[in-house]
Amino acid sequence: MSNFALLDIDTALEWLAMLARWVHVIAGVCWIGSSFYFMALDAELKSRPHLDVRVKGEAWQVHGGGFYHMQKYVVAPEFMPEELTWFKWEAYSTWIFGFALLCLTYFYNASIYLVDPDVADITPVMAAGVGLVSLGLGWLVYTGLCRSPIGKNQGQLALAGWVLLVAVIYFYTHFFSGRGAFILIGALVGSIMVGNVFFVIIPNQRKTVACLLRGETPNAMWGYEAKQRSTHNNYLTLPVIFIMLSGHYAITFQNRFAWIVLSCVFVSGFLVRHWFNVSNAGGKPDWKLWPAAGCFFVAAMLLSVFGLKDVLPAFDPKAPKVEFAEVERIVNERCRVCHVAPQAPQGIVFENARQIHTLAPKIYIQAVKTRAMPLGNVTGITDDERQTLRDWVAQGASVP
Ligand code: HEC
Repeated sequence: MSNFALLDIDTALEWLAMLARWVHVIAGVCWIGSSFYFMALDAELKSRPHLDVRVKGEAWQVHGGGFYHMQKYVVAPEFMPEELTWFKWEAYSTWIFGFALLCLTYFYNASIYLVDPDVADITPVMAAGVGLVSLGLGWLVYTGLCRSPIGKNQGQLALAGWVLLVAVIYFYTHFFSGRGAFILIGALVGSIMVGNVFFVIIPNQRKTVACLLRGETPNAMWGYEAKQRSTHNNYLTLPVIFIMLSGHYAITFQNRFAWIVLSCVFVSGFLVRHWFNVSNAGGKPDWKLWPAAGCFFVAAMLLSVFGLKDVLPAFDPKAPKVEFAEVERIVNERCRVCHVAPQAPQGIVFENARQIHTLAPKIYIQAVKTRAMPLGNVTGITDDERQTLRDWVAQGASVP
C-alpha cells in the first residue's frame, strides 16, 4: 500500500506521455499506411475500354480472402454514395498526440532536452518559444511558396523548398541541442504535412464534392493542388520517420555536421520513395536510385563520426588502472540524478556494480564518444571524468 505514496505528478505525466506516444505511433502508422496505399493504387490504375467514361481507371486486388475491384471516378459518379469514407483523422490525430508528446517531453523539460550550453546560450523558455513559433511560421512560409509563382513549376518548387529546409536544419542545429533540433525539425515537417491535409487537401475535396452534387464542373485547380500537396507528403514520410527514431541514436545528432547529416538523410529518403513511386506507376524501376540513396546514407554516417565534438585524446595503454570506486563515484554524481528506478529513462539504471558493468559499452558511447550524456550536462561532468570512464572501459570495465 505504501507505494501509492509514490504516485506523484511526474508518474502521472510519465503515463500520459506514454499514452500520447502510443496513440501518436498508431495514428501515424494508419496515416502513412493509407498514404502509401493510395499513392500505389493511383499509380496502378489502368484505363480499359469497357469502363464508364467517368472512370479514369481500374485495379483488381486480392486481400484477406476476397477480391477487390477498385475504380477511380474523376468526375461525379451517377449518384453520390450515402457513405463516403474520408481519410483525415489519421493525420489529425497523429498531429494532436504528437504535439501533446512534444509538450509533455520536450517543452516541459526544455532545459535538458532543447538546450545545450555548448551550442547556444539560450534559456529554456526561449527554446520552447522559438520551437513553438517556428511550427506555425514554417507552415506559412511553405504554403506561401507553393502558392507563389514558383509553385507552378515543380522543379523550381522542389529546389526552393530544399534550400529552405536545409536553412532551417542549419539554424535549428546551431540553436537547439542536437536532440532538440532533430525532433523540432520532425515536428515542423510533420506539421506541414498535417497542414496540407487540414488546410488544402480536405477543403479542396469538400469543394469538389459540393460542386459535383450541384452538377457543376469542379475547378481543376483544386484537384491539382491537392495532388501536389499529397505528393509532397509522400516524399517527406521516410525522413520524418528517421527523425522520430533518431533520438535513440545520439551519434546521428551529437556532432558538428549534424545539419549535413540530416540533409543527407532527407535526400536518401526522397530517393527511396521515388524508386517506389516510379515502380508502382509501372515505370521501369530505376535501380541506380538505391546505390545513390546508399551513398547519401553512408555520407551521413561518415560525417557524423568526423564531426564528433571535443574528442578526447586516445586511450593510453600505459595509463594507471582505474579503480572501480572512482567510476562508481562519477556515475553516482553525474548520472544517478536521472537514472534511478522507477522512472529511469529507457530503463537504464546504475544502482550496483553489475548494472554499471553490463552497461559499460553504452556508457562509453553516451558519455565519452558522443557526449550525449549527461543530458544537457546538467550535472557538470568534467573532461577528466569522461577520460576516467573511457580508460575504465578500455581496461575491460572490471568490477570487484
Ligand atoms: C538530466 C538527466 C540525465 C542525466 C544526468 C543522465 N542521463 Fe542518461 N538519459 C537521460 C534520458 C532522458 C535518456 C533517454 C533518452 C532517449 O529517450 O533516448 C537517457 C538515456 C541514456 C542511455 C540510453 C541511451 C540509448 O538510447 O541507448 C544511456 C546509456 C545513458 N543515458 C547513460 C547515462 C550516463 C552514463 C550518464 C552519466 C554520465 C547519464 N546518462 C546521465 C537522462 C539523463
